[in-house]
Amino acid sequence: MKKITVLCLALATVLSTQAKKVPAYKDPEKSVEERVEDLLGLMTLEEKVLQLNQLTLGRNDNANNMADPVNDIPAGIGSLIYFDDNGELRNRVQRKAMEHSRLGIPVLFGYDVIHGFSTVYPISLGQACSWNPELVRQACAMAARETRASGIEWTFSPMIDVARDGRWGRIAEGYGEDPYTNAVFAAASVRGYQGDDPTDLSDPSHIAACLKHYVGYGASEAGRDYVYTEISDQTLWDTYLPPYQAGIEAGAATVMSCFNDISGTPGSANRHLLTEVLKERWGHDGFVVSDWGAIQQLRAQGVAADTKEAALKAFTAGVDMDMMNRCYDNHLAALVAEGKVSQAQVDEAVRRVLRVKFRLGLFDRPYTPTTNKAERFGLPEDIATAERLVAESIVLLKNEANTLPLTGTSRIAVIGPLSDSRWHLLGSWCAKGNADDVVSIKEGMEREFGGKSELLFARGCDFDGDDRSGFAEAVATAEKSDVVVLCLGEKRDWSGENASRSTIALPAIQEALAAEIAATGRPVVLVLTNGRPLDLSRLEPLVGAIVEFWQPGIRGGAPLAGILSGRINPSGKLSVTFPRSTGQIPIYYNHRQTARPYGGQGLYKDVPSTPLYEFGHGLSYTTFEYGDIVLSAAEFAHGEKFTAEVTVKNTGARDGLETVHWFVHDPVCTVSRPVKELKYFDKQFIPAGESRSFRFDIDPLRDLGFVKRSGERFLETGDYFIMVADKRIKITITD
Ligand code: NOJ
Repeated sequence: MKKITVLCLALATVLSTQAKKVPAYKDPEKSVEERVEDLLGLMTLEEKVLQLNQLTLGRNDNANNMADPVNDIPAGIGSLIYFDDNGELRNRVQRKAMEHSRLGIPVLFGYDVIHGFSTVYPISLGQACSWNPELVRQACAMAARETRASGIEWTFSPMIDVARDGRWGRIAEGYGEDPYTNAVFAAASVRGYQGDDPTDLSDPSHIAACLKHYVGYGASEAGRDYVYTEISDQTLWDTYLPPYQAGIEAGAATVMSCFNDISGTPGSANRHLLTEVLKERWGHDGFVVSDWGAIQQLRAQGVAADTKEAALKAFTAGVDMDMMNRCYDNHLAALVAEGKVSQAQVDEAVRRVLRVKFRLGLFDRPYTPTTNKAERFGLPEDIATAERLVAESIVLLKNEANTLPLTGTSRIAVIGPLSDSRWHLLGSWCAKGNADDVVSIKEGMEREFGGKSELLFARGCDFDGDDRSGFAEAVATAEKSDVVVLCLGEKRDWSGENASRSTIALPAIQEALAAEIAATGRPVVLVLTNGRPLDLSRLEPLVGAIVEFWQPGIRGGAPLAGILSGRINPSGKLSVTFPRSTGQIPIYYNHRQTARPYGGQGLYKDVPSTPLYEFGHGLSYTTFEYGDIVLSAAEFAHGEKFTAEVTVKNTGARDGLETVHWFVHDPVCTVSRPVKELKYFDKQFIPAGESRSFRFDIDPLRDLGFVKRSGERFLETGDYFIMVADKRIKITITD
């Protein structure tokens, strides 16, 4: 008995000592900051440096960023890019990290989930045309759920680079040409991925977002990818930084530094922008990851002699994690030993990485429950979200003599290289989107019109090349029908990374097919599938209607056919200007005021100065009439807030959704201001015959003010204009 008591006492002492030994960083009751500091205090320099590296797990399928699998991934690695769509391999690797690294620090798994994981929805350029940030938030929340359930807790999205050059293939990945639009969708997607509390991302349906590519990538000269940019401080603050500031305010956990240089200093070596602006001024407390290879590429950009100098420049500028450069794991410890990088700087970068891992709950739940795909993907409510986003992103660009909708049409010919394609509807960066899941245009048309109209199909030609052998069949098919739905556009890899085009017209073979079809005299509805604005100057006169379908993801066919039949009333409006020719680029709505404004003509001898379709353009099957803008008062003292309201009446016979874009203009200012700038938008459903009131709550400093080169906002007294549609009203700000 005595022996047993002694034994029990001894066991109790051992257990309690062990209990005391559980370090604070493993205690979920402690705050994230306490846990981070505790863990940092236990780490060696070598362990810290490993946390600042990202490698890939396996081989990817991205030709631009190809990696050989790393055979022996260190157990203490900070992050891995994960290319699988289930958690099994990940969990095995995670087990190694948890059980074989000295401190059991979980790996952070990341992936490019840009417009959906498995349930792929439209490319961002198209999403923005919905002017429905709440719907985009829902789509991102769906992507987050699918992603996290598949073993990945970090996406390299949203891409919020304002882009004004349609030649640049990556214009597809952002929300268009306007800073405010990018800012609104940046915040919506961050909230969709992360939920509403940026300090707690542990919910199994949330993932960490990454704002990219900080900053100015969209200004790549002449639309060539990976090149230099020339951006003045004024334009940086006015155009390229606002979406990032909005994304940080929404709580984005991470930021990716860009490839490009900004007027001579590469973004990935830019201490002013990465540290002084992003971290110190805006208070970003997550971490910055480099783009793939962007640190070692500092050599190619001519600012570092070798990879060690590149590591020094990027790290001291504020790039915390090295994505596939092998610069930090090779050189950071030596740079510390040489006194070029301080321990405190390393601690600060590691602190940021650990903070995100703790917020994601990775220390407490490092493994992903493995489930089958049917439980994760293609859920009915997700399909509905994807279809709604397609429907709202489609833009009716032209509809002469009510070519659309196709009501009571007995024979419809569906012609063109995109008429039966699934693969090309997915768009670039389609993650785990599967072509077998795609509803093609053909399939959508069959579901919509089957049993009501006779459908005839012909491909006509390929995307490019000069093979006209399919023309005769296409023409014969058109001749047998009452209307032709002509499906032209781009291949999915003609946009995205490293996919610039020197002309944004469609290849000559597609234009030639259109001309032959038009020559039959049948009305033609042109349906465009593409990842950039296009030069439609030769196609536009040939057709009665143009429907911009973008790259819709897996659920495009049904909503498109719904719009063609009239079941769905189109409501999308352009997030980017369509020029008349490639030579007009850059052409965007919010350009500054010119010295000799020629109005609509005169800047070129061979083409009008106006674009073919301006930012914000988009037709409906109904008509909307705008009343006059009503202000809460016409004069305001500096600092006073006020409201502007407009009533919009649906004067047609159909219910419809209408987006009201509120623009402002400051005609005289210390700095020359754009001819108009979007400051707010709102979308409402307006039943036929009814009116709705739209209201813009104006904060003068925020909405009428401007930024100085230093980034400081200012508001001048004087006259301003508020504009919606063709209405405009003057207001005066007094002292
Ligand atoms: C390079 C691309 O620029 C970036 O957008 C992407 O997130 C990374 N590669 C990782 O794939």
